[in-house]
Amino acid sequence: MKRVDRIKELRQQVAAWRVAGDRIALVPTMGNLHAGHLELVKQAQQRADRVIVSIFVNPMQFGAGEDFGSYPRTLDQDAVQLDAIKTDLLFSPPVAEVYPHGQEEQTVVTVPGLSDIFCGASRPGHFTGVATVVCKLFNMVQADLALFGTKDFQQLLLIRRMAEDLCIPIKIIGIPTVRENDGLARSSRNGYLTAAERNIAPALYRVLCETSSAIAEGNSDYRALELEAKQALETAGFKPDYYSIRNADALTEPKNEEKNLVILAAAYLGRARLIDNLLVENG
Ligand code: PAJ
Repeated sequence: MKRVDRIKELRQQVAAWRVAGDRIALVPTMGNLHAGHLELVKQAQQRADRVIVSIFVNPMQFGAGEDFGSYPRTLDQDAVQLDAIKTDLLFSPPVAEVYPHGQEEQTVVTVPGLSDIFCGASRPGHFTGVATVVCKLFNMVQADLALFGTKDFQQLLLIRRMAEDLCIPIKIIGIPTVRENDGLARSSRNGYLTAAERNIAPALYRVLCETSSAIAEGNSDYRALELEAKQALETAGFKPDYYSIRNADALTEPKNEEKNLVILAAAYLGRARLIDNLLVENG
C-alpha cells in the first residue's frame, strides 16, 4: 500500500492511475478503523480498480468542548489493517495541508436545511465542517465514486446534496451499517463506553427495531412511538438527544401513508454520544 500525506503526491499517483484507465474510489474516514470502515473499503474494491482511503481527524467538524483532542488516533495500526486488505493508497494529510490558511480563513460549504436539524442542531457548525472537508477531499482526489456508511444517515444525505448542488462529478454510494453481534453499530466512539455502559449500549438498536416493527404492523402514531422510544432509552440508562421518524429522502416529517421512512436516534451514554438509525420495512 502506498502512503502519502501531501496533496501533490496524491495527485501524481491518481494521474498515473487515470492514464492507465483505472476507476478510482475514495473512502473518507477519521481513522481508528473498525469493521465498518473496512467494509466500505471492501465494497469499494468491488466497484473500482483503485481504492484510496483518507484518514483525517477534521478539526472543523468538532465543536468547542467536543472530543477533537481525545478522538482516538491510531494511524499506524490503521495502516496495517488497510494494507492487510490490499488498499491501494492511504492519504493522511496533516492539518496544515488541508487548511493552509487556517480554519478561520477557509472558504466553507454549507448545505442549507439539512445542516441545522438533528445532529446539526445538537452540534452547531458540525455539518459545515463535514461538507467543507468532504468537498475538499473530493477535489483533491477527483475519484469516480465515494463510499459512506448509512450509519451516519444525515451525513450521507448531506454529502449527496452537496455533490449535487456543486455539480461535483462523483457517484456517492451508501453502505449498510456494520454491527456487533448484539446489534450495537460499530463506531470509533464505542471505545468511550465503560464495561457497564457497553452492556446497555445495544438497547439503542433494540428500541429502533421495536419502533420499526410497530410501524410495519400498521401503527402510524409516530409522535407516540417517538415518545415511547425515548422513555425506553431513558429507562435503559441513556440520555436521549433526538428520536425521530422521518421521510428517508429528505428527513421531512412523514405524511400519512408515507412508505419511505427512517428512524433516526442519538443518545448520550456516559461520555459517548451514540447515533444509529433504521430504515423501516413497511411495504
Ligand atoms: P468516520 O466516523 O471515521 O466514518 C468514516 C465512514 O465510515 C463514514 O462514511 C461512516 O458513515 C462510516 N462508518 C462508520 N461506522 C460504520 C459502521 N458501523 N458501518 C458502516 N459504515 C460505518 O464520518 C466521518 O468519519 C467523517 O465525518 C468524514 C466523512 C470522514 C468527514 O470528516
